[in-house]
Amino acid sequence: MRLPLIIALASAMVLPQAMARAIPDPNQKHAPGNEAPQKPISQAGYSTPVNYQLQCAGCHLSDGTGSKANDTPKMKGFVGNFLKVEGGREFLVRVPGMSQSALNNAQLADLLNWLLDKNGMAGASMPEHYQPYTEEEVARIRKASLLNLPDVRAGLIHQMVEQSIEIDDGMAHPSSDPTPQGSLK
Ligand code: HEC
Repeated sequence: MRLPLIIALASAMVLPQAMARAIPDPNQKHAPGNEAPQKPISQAGYSTPVNYQLQCAGCHLSDGTGSKANDTPKMKGFVGNFLKVEGGREFLVRVPGMSQSALNNAQLADLLNWLLDKNGMAGASMPEHYQPYTEEEVARIRKASLLNLPDVRAGLIHQMVEQSIEIDDGMAHPSSDPTPQGSLK
């Protein structure tokens, strides 16, 4: 049989390259000017807008428009509506992009308060009275995992529909689709 020989030869050719990629050079030096170890973002002290750009904009885009193609809802002019329905305040902290980000609790509270601003991303979707998030509140809410996100979100959207809030989340078209709850499925 010639097959085992061919396999052995092919492995002998491929393996060294594969291993060269897998094993880092222990003597590799830092690139010049890059010698200091990088600070984790939770200690880096960037401003809130910079934290947003680094941690969130990759999916949500710089201005919060989101991307329907990637199932990322529009926050711009909409996200404040979650504060008008029961469970929405907790939901905003528990979505994975928030709760599992590398930001610390104080940074997340600042980020939420920055997003949820009449003059900011949330814009006109904000309720009249807003109680800013605190570091302690974020710490408490963040710990509990969000199970079954699509259903939880659908329930919140449903509550909004009941309050006659326009579902302008970039995900569904309530006028043509009577069940916007299904938008993330
Ligand atoms: C990997 C892509 C991604 C990243 C990074 C990300 N998000 Fe998200 N975000 C999503 C998606 C997708 C949803 C819709 C719910 C879900 O599936 O998680 C969402 C939902 C949300 C929601 C709820 C809005 C809604 O309409 O459901 C908020 C608020 C939010 N994200 C904020 C943030 C913030 C703030 C950051 C940065 C700290 C962030 N996200 C990072 C993808 C992301």
